[in-house]
Order: sequence, then C-alpha cells, then structure tokens
Amino acid sequence: MIDQLVKKTRCYRRFYEDVAVDRETLIGVIKLLRFVSSARNAQPLKYVISTDRGMNSKIFGTLKWAGYFKDWDGPEIGERPSAYIVMLRDKNISTEDFSLIDGGIALQTAMLKLTELGLGGCPIAAVDKQRLFEVLSLEDEKLEILLVLSIGKPKERVVIVDSRRDIKYYRDEQGIHYVPKRPLDELLIKVY
Ligand SMILES: Cc1cc2nc3c(=O)[nH]c(=O)nc-3n(C[C@H](O)[C@H](O)[C@H](O)COP(=O)(O)O)c2cc1C
Repeated sequence: MIDQLVKKTRCYRRFYEDVAVDRETLIGVIKLLRFVSSARNAQPLKYVISTDRGMNSKIFGTLKWAGYFKDWDGPEIGERPSAYIVMLRDKNISTEDFSLIDGGIALQTAMLKLTELGLGGCPIAAVDKQRLFEVLSLEDEKLEILLVLSIGKPKERVVIVDSRRDIKYYRDEQGIHYVPKRPLDELLIKVY
C-alpha cells in the first residue's frame, strides 16, 4: 500500500482548474500535519491556505515553474492549481536547520494525503517570497516562507524512468511528463 502511494505521489504541474478543492479538505490536511515529527518537538511550521480564486491568482503570480523547461512559463489559464498551502517557518520558535527537515517531513506527508484524496500537487520553492509575504498580508517578519504547495486535480501523466546520467525531467510530444530517477546501486552505497 505505502509503496503504491509513494510511487503515485508525483509532482503535477497541470490541473483541471475548474475542479475546486474545498477549504475543509485543506484544513483536514493541516490537521494531519499536527501529528508529524519535529526536531526537539519545537513545531515551528505554520501554514496559510487558499482556495479563493482571487487569492490563488495572486499566489500564482509569485511562483516559478519547472526550471528545466526554458520555454514554458507554467500552467496556462484553465490548468492552474485550484488551491495552495503555503508553508512557513516561525523563526520566533526556531531558526535551526533541523526545522527545514521538519518541513520536508510535513511536505511529503501533505503530498501523500493529497494523493489519497485523489488530488495532486507540486511543491514550489522558487517563489518571490517578498511579494508573496505582501500578497498574504503577513505582518510578523519572523515568519519565513519556505515553499508553496500548489494543489489541484492532476491533468497530466507523470512517468518515472531509470537514469544513470541525465536527471532533468522532460515531456514527450503527447505531453507525458517523464521523471528520471537514479537506480538503487547509485543510492545504496554500502551494505554491511
Ligand atoms: C523542496 C522542493 C522544491 C521544489 N521546487 C520546485 C519549484 O520551484 N518549481 C517546480 O516547478 N518544481 C519544484 N519542485 C518539484 C521537483 O522539480 C520535482 O519533485 C522533481 O522534478 C521530481 O519529480 P517528482 O516529484 O514527480 O518525483 C520542488 C520539489 C521539492 C521537493
């Protein structure tokens, strides 16, 4: 079960924008994130959610999509995310590097939950953070935006392929998105 869930949990960048994600669904995801592990149990992560069309459009304007696709500016109108979770680190609570690991744990947990719900997403760390800070009307300068999880009903097929060389994702003529993953023997460097 977990194997299938992890394999299905891919980064999707094109969505059925007309399929709404309701606020309660996202609140449910954040409720789940209360339970993830945290270094020193500090729990420095905070979240902002949006399912609002106007706010979504403002958030979208701060994101950079698919750095390897030089001639693609991200999803077009109609294929954009219908919701967002913005992950923040509250530096009043922690500035330790460990809190970024907390962020990774929370991110993957949220993505797995979205898959279970029949949704999908893409974490975006390439964010104009200063602009987004203003867009979200955040006031406390100690709140640091870590990343934005874009969310929607996926409208693309993503296929994993083994690769020893190039790890750049690519699309074919049918628009299928391929993600090269390094083989096991490159990851597992010693077995005692
Ligand atoms: C921490 C993190 C930051 C990411 N930032 C971006 C980003 O700024 N823009 C983007 O298009 N994709 C971003 N991605 C998505 C990765 O490009 C994607 O995970 C990678 O291509 C592998 O695809 P997969 O998630 O389907 O395995 C990010 C992923 C992670 C985990």
